[in-house]
Amino acid sequence: MTVKQKIPQDFLDDLIARNDIVEWISERISLKRSGSNWHGKCPFHQEKSPSFSVSQTKQFYYCFGCKAAGNIIQFIMEYHHYTFLETVELLANAHGLSMPTLTGGKQENHQEDWALMQAIAKAYQQQLNKAPKPMEYLIARGLSNTTIKAFQLGFAPDEWRFVLNRFAKDPSNMKRLITLGMAIEKKNSIYDRFRGRIMFPIINHKGQVIAFGGRVLNQETPKYLNSPETPLFHKSDELFGLYHVRKQTQKISKILVVEGYMDVIALANHGIHYAVATLGTAITPGHLKKLLRQCDTIYFCFDGDLAGHTAAWKALTTALPHCHDGTHIFFSFLPEKEDPDSFVNQHGKDSFEEHLDKSLPLSTFFMEKLYQNHPPTSLDNKASLAKEAATYLKQMPEGIFKSLLYKSLSENVNISVEELKNPQAQPTQSRQPRPRMRPASQTKSSPIRQIITLLLHYPSIASKLNIDALSNDTTPGIPQLKHLMQILEKSPKIKSTGALLQHIEDPTFKKQLSQLAGQLIFTQGDEAAALAQALINQYLQSKIKHTIQGLIRRAEQGLLSSEEKSKLQQLITQQKKQN
Ligand code: UTP
Ligand code: MN
Repeated sequence: MTVKQKIPQDFLDDLIARNDIVEWISERISLKRSGSNWHGKCPFHQEKSPSFSVSQTKQFYYCFGCKAAGNIIQFIMEYHHYTFLETVELLANAHGLSMPTLTGGKQENHQEDWALMQAIAKAYQQQLNKAPKPMEYLIARGLSNTTIKAFQLGFAPDEWRFVLNRFAKDPSNMKRLITLGMAIEKKNSIYDRFRGRIMFPIINHKGQVIAFGGRVLNQETPKYLNSPETPLFHKSDELFGLYHVRKQTQKISKILVVEGYMDVIALANHGIHYAVATLGTAITPGHLKKLLRQCDTIYFCFDGDLAGHTAAWKALTTALPHCHDGTHIFFSFLPEKEDPDSFVNQHGKDSFEEHLDKSLPLSTFFMEKLYQNHPPTSLDNKASLAKEAATYLKQMPEGIFKSLLYKSLSENVNISVEELKNPQAQPTQSRQPRPRMRPASQTKSSPIRQIITLLLHYPSIASKLNIDALSNDTTPGIPQLKHLMQILEKSPKIKSTGALLQHIEDPTFKKQLSQLAGQLIFTQGDEAAALAQALINQYLQSKIKHTIQGLIRRAEQGLLSSEEKSKLQQLITQQKKQN
């Protein structure tokens, strides 16, 4: 979600309660029952023996191999590459529920923002024919009327207040134009951002105009001016042309990523309707996720020069963590001094697509580049090659593709895959299989961490716990514990781990909790509350013990104030009472 949109928590609780995680997952992968859990082969990494487990009571899945974890919502998002909203919609539809109105953020107001941006785009479009120059420019660049219309191209006249005069009659709209990046306020004067430029509306996946790019008609600089970041427009998430691709294509089989507005438009003009462009930035993980939700084959096209190769390597390193089995990523390099626009205009559609067919698969480009950087002619170079390669490969999701890359690298540098993965490992150690399922109780864990683990497994114990004594404590872990207790107090309907996790907003915290929730614990539900309370007391006692020890140390050095002395006495009495 680019804009913060909130589905009411109640609705999510209800959704999780109604949709059984075991039912949903077992429709997608084969699960076998064992005890109270279900096991199968993990869909998120390649494996021979099953280490993926789903718990019906916890409404939670966990993989002991790759540590994938989460509730039903996370499963669907990961498994189908769905967005959060798409997932909620799917689950709601399954029960004939209609989607709730979104709350929070500034959602409600955006309707007017979009309407305003659309109206401005329209006004720019009308200006295209008012003067001869802009249209002449587009025609000189070879664009057909259909293409110009399809991308809603327009022209911002060379005036200081073209947009302002038309759209800022009332002061609230004036503010809106500034917020949306269409007008600039400087030293008490306000003027249009875009003047004397060909205008390219930037359209989101729903077809709403959210920003603009503007190009000069001559050699002036800057050549392109883009909208700044606004509540509607987050440059690092948006791809120019994606709406066009989705509109033109029923089933998208591949997407080509190019560098410029005019590249996308010129390609479409020649019948290549699967190109998008980043907006003057390198490709981001957000872009990649968005692209991989559309299809699993992505082509990147770069200039053949050094800058193009550098940009391609950057795109590759961004793409690696997203290279699941079944994802295909290619790199295409154009002859020097050419861009897709000039190439397709000069050589036509077929030549361009033939060129694209000769793209390098990610694996080839990856290996070639590494060999270029470290020609494997000496042992030293082989070692540095292996080291660099390993740092990149580590980031990839588990799977056959990753294994193959390791294998190919291993053959080329003559180092075992095991050693590539773990350079420090002793060969004898590396052959021993790691224990796959380690119960939580085997790992030494602080009492607070154990309490959090118990709460995650048995959310209903919250009502029986008393943590008042921790109210002023800010020791790491305690604020998190208090946060969980607050959630559970506020929403007593939460009955499962999966439901509880849905209330955690901070992604890092959510990840940590998911890992704790995935641990096996041997405590039974009916013992959990008592154990948690005992752990709280144990923690409080050890805290008193430490404070006493600290005070005694100061006393020995003769540093104790009278205030500290009475505190020490009080603590010692308290400690005696508890023992
Ligand atoms: P290029 O300079 O390669 O432009 O910038 P281009 O696409 O070939 O443009 P034409 O063919 O001369 O019209 C590529 C992209 O970088 C961003 C724009 O998104 C542009 O499409 N850019 C470039 C800017 O944002 N500002 C600039 O001044 C230049
Ligand atoms: Mn160009």
